[in-house]
Amino acid sequence: MAYSAPRGTVDILSDNSGQWQQLEQLLRTICANYNVKEMRTPIFEHTELFTRAVGDTTDVVTKEMYTFEDKKGRSMTLRPEGTAGIARSYVENKLYALPEKLQKYYYMGPMFRYERPQSGRQRQFHQFGVEMIGLESPYVDVEAMVLAVTVVEALGLQDITLHINSLGDEESRDAYREALKKHFEPVIKDLCYDCQQRYEKNPLRILDCKVDREHPFMNDAPHTIDYLSENAKAHFDKVCELLDDLEIEYVIDTNLVRGLDYYSHTVFEVISDDPKLGAGATVGGGGRYNTLISELGGPDVPGVGFAFGMERLLIANSDVDAEEDGLDVYVMPLGNEAKDLAMQIVTMLRANGFTCDMDQCDRGLKGQFKSADRFHAHFSMIIGEEEVKKEVVNMKCNHSKEQNEVLLENIVAFIEAHYEGGHDHE
Ligand code: HAM
Repeated sequence: MAYSAPRGTVDILSDNSGQWQQLEQLLRTICANYNVKEMRTPIFEHTELFTRAVGDTTDVVTKEMYTFEDKKGRSMTLRPEGTAGIARSYVENKLYALPEKLQKYYYMGPMFRYERPQSGRQRQFHQFGVEMIGLESPYVDVEAMVLAVTVVEALGLQDITLHINSLGDEESRDAYREALKKHFEPVIKDLCYDCQQRYEKNPLRILDCKVDREHPFMNDAPHTIDYLSENAKAHFDKVCELLDDLEIEYVIDTNLVRGLDYYSHTVFEVISDDPKLGAGATVGGGGRYNTLISELGGPDVPGVGFAFGMERLLIANSDVDAEEDGLDVYVMPLGNEAKDLAMQIVTMLRANGFTCDMDQCDRGLKGQFKSADRFHAHFSMIIGEEEVKKEVVNMKCNHSKEQNEVLLENIVAFIEAHYEGGHDHE
């Protein structure tokens, strides 16, 4: 039987892992800049966490979760997103009791959604996410958005737009829910079964429907922004004012509602028109969630955050050259005795912090030089019978083509002197 990776999953082969590491490093550096610390939560959680946090009428919960029973019959789910786990951990570890009222976390890792795979959409994919928990202030919404914009700018992504909207507070949402119900009432029987359920339980989710997307009543559905309470409007106006002051470009997208239930007030998405992703692809999105922490049993503490799909960031950024650093030394033994010595030398060099490797295939010089080339080795270190006898090695600098016989005990000093002498050939 030939085994293949499950549909919607991808092997990140070693040719590509350099690009991933580069992206991860960049994201870590930006987070350090923003004083955002890493949090790592489990890849699976109790199913009820997601049902409660993400919402039992969302597509993510009703159609896309990888749910299984463990050996004790408990229902577990592979995380479809990161916010619920972070919020659960925040409550469970009583992080609200820390002296610093605003806690800022980031995470990176695999998420799982049973979706139809296509370019930029997988069943196991990776998210980079940020959660800022503790304050209701619009300044924090804007800090999160600026961080998101910093990421796409640092990656040099083209044709990017920040879309923002407000869902308002509870008062606004109640008013909006009524307006939506009134709007869809005359046609609810024509809508799909799911929408009829949504109509009863959570009419906002009708707007995500993929089946009834083209229905004429979808287009002229009321907008959340027209139902904002005074407080919610003041919050949103301040967000816009702060973005203006910082000269961050954005568009107010009154159709933006997001597909997860925990949002209130500000929601936003970073949309790319890069043809590699397909026009209008969402690279990342997020928003404020003021009741999530209390719904999970914590105190009344608000939060705001976002997540990017890392595959999408990489697709949009695929022009960036992720040239790997080469080896310092590739050790090329000829014969068994030389191989024994080579093993000692690579171990010693690695212990001294040099990146190196040796030929393990007992090949002739030609094949070994080809490997040195492929690994972009700065030095080829040739060890033949003669060298073993004389207790030396032959160091060839692959940049200057200079060749030197070096005593075994002088190898480290020789490499250091070579680099210090400006021979790092960067
Ligand atoms: P989301 O919009 O569901 O939000 O996902 C965020 C991003 O993850 C998407 O914009 C997309 O780039 C990527 N993504 C989602 N599904 C897939 C998939 N099947 N394949 C590839 N990429 C995908 C959230 O998950 C929220 N937790 C964001 C958030 C954080 N809100 C507040 N804090």
